[in-house]
Amino acid sequence: MPLTTFDIPERYLYQTGFLANLETEAIPGALPIGQNSPQKCPYGLYAEKISGTAFTAPRWENQQTWVYRIIPSASHAAFEAVPSGSNLEAKFNYIPDQLRWDPFDVNKDVDWIRGLNMVAGAGDPALKNGVAYYIYGATLSMAEKTAFYNADGDMLIVPQLGALDIWTEMGRLLIRPNEICVLPRGIRYRVDLVDNQPIRGFALEIYNGHFQLPELGPIGSNCLANARDFQIPVAAYTHDTKSCWKVYNKFRGQLFSAGQIHTPFDVVAWEGRYYPYKYDLGRFNTIGTISYDHPDPSLNTVLTATSNAHPGTAIADFVIFPPRWLVAEDTFRPPSYHRNCMSEFMGLIQGTYIAKEGGGGGFQAAGASLHNCMSSHGPDSTAFDKASNEELVPVKAGVGSMAFMFESCYMVGITDWGLTKCSKLQPKYSEESWGGLRDHFQPPTETKKGDNMVQQTLHTIN
Ligand SMILES: [Fe+2]
Repeated sequence: MPLTTFDIPERYLYQTGFLANLETEAIPGALPIGQNSPQKCPYGLYAEKISGTAFTAPRWENQQTWVYRIIPSASHAAFEAVPSGSNLEAKFNYIPDQLRWDPFDVNKDVDWIRGLNMVAGAGDPALKNGVAYYIYGATLSMAEKTAFYNADGDMLIVPQLGALDIWTEMGRLLIRPNEICVLPRGIRYRVDLVDNQPIRGFALEIYNGHFQLPELGPIGSNCLANARDFQIPVAAYTHDTKSCWKVYNKFRGQLFSAGQIHTPFDVVAWEGRYYPYKYDLGRFNTIGTISYDHPDPSLNTVLTATSNAHPGTAIADFVIFPPRWLVAEDTFRPPSYHRNCMSEFMGLIQGTYIAKEGGGGGFQAAGASLHNCMSSHGPDSTAFDKASNEELVPVKAGVGSMAFMFESCYMVGITDWGLTKCSKLQPKYSEESWGGLRDHFQPPTETKKGDNMVQQTLHTIN
């Protein structure tokens, strides 16, 4: 603590600062000074603006970036639909059952694009309203001279296995398990494996808006994820205006591709606050009780995408459960039994999770669960018995572990892939988790005559 020790060493340089207006140039002098669009840009570059928000969005949320590149991205052939068989469309089955999945497979002989499967979600990217949750798994780097962009939403990537070497228009990022990254909508990128090692993980896509740091309220001006710990790439370009590139595009869940005779990774300099970034979850400054009772998990929010209609209600929160000290006195320390108007999708990167230690095949690394809107959930019977009887000494929980939650205000539906095609649903999750909960009720054996409480007690089954 507070940094993760990674097996794979860092290979790139970064700038820092969440949503800071940054500028970077791979060649000194490539960035115009004092204006965005001079009659002639330095070194014969083209100026291109990428708007991540409406022009007139309030200043605090306005996100745009000016890139200075060798050939504008508009120079490409017509898009053609790609018959993919991919599971990227927002088509959902809505069921209220608690669901849990065994660890997902690493798909063989596929790359990032083909290895991406939507498991659950809500809404419609065409209306810029909703979320989608993905499982990815791949054993191949993307093909030479291909790139990808997602027109549907910003994507937050949570690696579970293997590192992703991501080359974006704004520069390069290395993303390893226990790091996350956010790739904003529209940004061109490609994903390469590191040392040909397979990759697997989770992704959260938001169809509306962008991620923000959560408000801290009475916590004050530090803690949780601090702005300085977000890392943003520096400009890095190649000069290739002779070879054929293919740019794939996810557009309302459909794959398209278009050819072009230049690399998309030709941005020599850029400035703005619309860019990809990464964050080491080991840097998260966890807050918790030092007296009694279990606080709400919102205290562990790394990033949030707020609903403008309802302050304090997120279309998606990204919440983590990192290693932390539990010191609460006279307290049932795991999360309590719960029904939530929000939907809770959980995944496990590594280790075990405090409230799910037995039953139903377990909550395993690379597995996931969904407790939908108002669907009851809570500790399984094993965890309940343990937490009800353990000695309440200070304990370091979650050592070597990292669970996370995508929490959304939407009722979340399951894709056909998530329900059947992935073949990972645990059929007895609910029964084996909560079917064994025993009746511990012990009413007093003698009550005083005339006690109002006795008068109000109607009868018991036994
Ligand atoms: Fe919950």
